[in-house]
Amino acid sequence: MRKPIVAGNWKMNKTVAEAVALVAEIKAGLQGLDAVDVVLCPPSTALQAVGQAIAGSKLDLGAQNMHWEKSGAFTGEVAAPMIRELGCHYVILGHSERRQYFKETDEIVNKKAKAALAAGLRPIVCVGELLEERESGRTEAVVGAQVRGSLAGLSGQDLLKTVVAYEPVWAIGTGKTATPAQAQDVHAFIRRVLKERSDDHIAQSVRIQYGGSVKASNAAELFHQPDIDGGLIGGASLEAASFLAICRGAL
Ligand code: 13P
Repeated sequence: MRKPIVAGNWKMNKTVAEAVALVAEIKAGLQGLDAVDVVLCPPSTALQAVGQAIAGSKLDLGAQNMHWEKSGAFTGEVAAPMIRELGCHYVILGHSERRQYFKETDEIVNKKAKAALAAGLRPIVCVGELLEERESGRTEAVVGAQVRGSLAGLSGQDLLKTVVAYEPVWAIGTGKTATPAQAQDVHAFIRRVLKERSDDHIAQSVRIQYGGSVKASNAAELFHQPDIDGGLIGGASLEAASFLAICRGAL
């Protein structure tokens, strides 16, 4: 049985003081959520403070990005061992905003995924089609290529530590959520691609999150689809009440 996982991707939001205040509110509302893995992904400036604030709670910590090298002359970047040292167990890789604004390719995401796994981090690998790709019937071709490319060369053991996040780009920050049926179709397709890449046991074990305008009002219906194992939440993760309600949607 796959344990649902809900992660808050705070993107470029929250100062350290704001982050610590939000964590305190989230911590106060975690009763009854033992059956869900809950991960907070603050900006890198707040990782240390959030890591300290969640100590002893069920909350886990994730970064939003990292470089694939362990160290070196890469001004402005952070490496996997650095975020691991701050208490991260997860790292979001290949988010569509990074693919779009920072030109990350599947090859780059793949290098990052391998580096993350080598450092003991669980990658949350994001994939998803643009609106024009969906409208021209290319969703499976695009998402399939992203999954194959981003996860190329990962062993079965590595795949078991990896989370895939399906985030249709047209649903991110737009208020336009994929319908549960649309999301389920793509999740089932991703699981078929994972099976091609490994075997049925592994494909059935990998957790696949949905992301894109998830709110308290639509989370439960999305998360109860057979191949949807929780969500990657942007805007609605910036406020404790809505984030906690979404986490409860995964029960
Ligand atoms: P929204 O929930 O704000 O649509 O963002 C989704 C997302 O990009 C999470 O990574």
